[in-house]
Amino acid sequence: MIIKPRGTSDILPKDAPIWQDIEKTARSTAELYGYGEIRFPTFESTELFARGVGDTTDVVQKEMYTFEDKDGRSMTLRPEGTACVVRSVIENGLAGEAMPLKLYYFTSCFRYEKPAAGRFREFYQFGTELFGADTPASDAGVISLADTLLKRLGIKNVQLCINNIGCRNCRPAYREALVAFFTDKQDQLCETCRGRLKTNPMRILDCKSPVCQSIAKDAPKVTDHLCGNCRDHNDKLCAYLNDMGIAFTPDPGIVRGLDYYTKTVFEFIAPIGRDEKTGEEKRLTICAGGRYDGLVEEIGGPKLPGIGFAAGMDRLVAAMRYGSADVPAPPQPQIYIAPLGDAAVGFASKLAYDLRQRGIRAECDVVGRSLKSQMKYADKIGAAYTVIIGEDEMQTGRAILKNMKTSEQTGIGLGSIADILLKEGL
Ligand code: HAM
Repeated sequence: MIIKPRGTSDILPKDAPIWQDIEKTARSTAELYGYGEIRFPTFESTELFARGVGDTTDVVQKEMYTFEDKDGRSMTLRPEGTACVVRSVIENGLAGEAMPLKLYYFTSCFRYEKPAAGRFREFYQFGTELFGADTPASDAGVISLADTLLKRLGIKNVQLCINNIGCRNCRPAYREALVAFFTDKQDQLCETCRGRLKTNPMRILDCKSPVCQSIAKDAPKVTDHLCGNCRDHNDKLCAYLNDMGIAFTPDPGIVRGLDYYTKTVFEFIAPIGRDEKTGEEKRLTICAGGRYDGLVEEIGGPKLPGIGFAAGMDRLVAAMRYGSADVPAPPQPQIYIAPLGDAAVGFASKLAYDLRQRGIRAECDVVGRSLKSQMKYADKIGAAYTVIIGEDEMQTGRAILKNMKTSEQTGIGLGSIADILLKEGL
């Protein structure tokens, strides 16, 4: 048997309604905030992510699905959406449009990570990006969009953590502080982090190795090295969130795993289930983002600030299920049409076709079942009504409509079925 690759998943029809609900809610919330949809390719030049996400990040160094195409170009399956959106904004001249430019997207992402609960190698994101504003008010607006989405999805016990990781002006001093802290401990760091000490010491704070993590927890905090501008930005953002009544926890430990961030970064954390062995509640980041004021320039575009977030849709599904949020049931057929004998098959098929043209979810036998097993099947698929089409029904144009819940039977003209069902609004 051929099985799916590790860390990927199949979304089956029984699971599709919760995904559709998330997509519908995310789309309508983004549109409520004035965002328009953007779609982009599944693979891009490897250089886009090396430059955008940063070639000292775990994502670029360890997790990318990179391949050479038949012309020898290095391509990568997108590990995230922000760099792709920025590339598209530059390439399509959107940077010249009225600002702020607000874009949202649904995307699959590919990262070669160790699969675990809520961690996949192919996963899905709903993301938003806002360009052309660098104010704390724009940060508050973006965070409030994510907050509104999570509330609308009915996800409970969500914690919002925010931090400010500084800008071009305050980073150099912070970098020096980190180098001073890690230099005499470098022998204990993993090999990758020893390299990062020279290239990008802030990345050590994000390393997943337990030894590096335990050393990093005593490292200097970025919040102690912010310039006046970043400090003021952060104070204003906190004040605006307080005004909106959006609860948050300042968390100087958030650095985020991607290099493009400047100033504001944030994460929404929520319970997604219980550990099978310990029974302990498992909390994960379901949505995360931040500001990236240098990214557009880094990828070859004009000076254009930006901020956005992405919610992991697989984790939203888990959080909604765990928190017993109201999840819509898959739609069931409104009517099952049972042809009685070969002669009625064409007539019944046309009746189903006509009803579908009027927007009725009609099902009709295509397997060639006996009448008895057709009725069993209609019951199994949850059809609200059934109608049997035989010789008499074809000649008179009248039939018996059976309500499957109440077993009530009503004589009707075949031409009035659509009106009856539309009136019921099932
Ligand atoms: P990220 O933190 O790498 O940020 O991913 C965003 C979210 O995607 C995470 O919070 C998590 O919910 C989900 N996620 C990440 N990795 C996995 C995985 N292996 N399996 C399942 N879910 C996962 C970004 O991707 C940025 N592009 C977000 C952003 C947009 N920042 C600014 N704009």
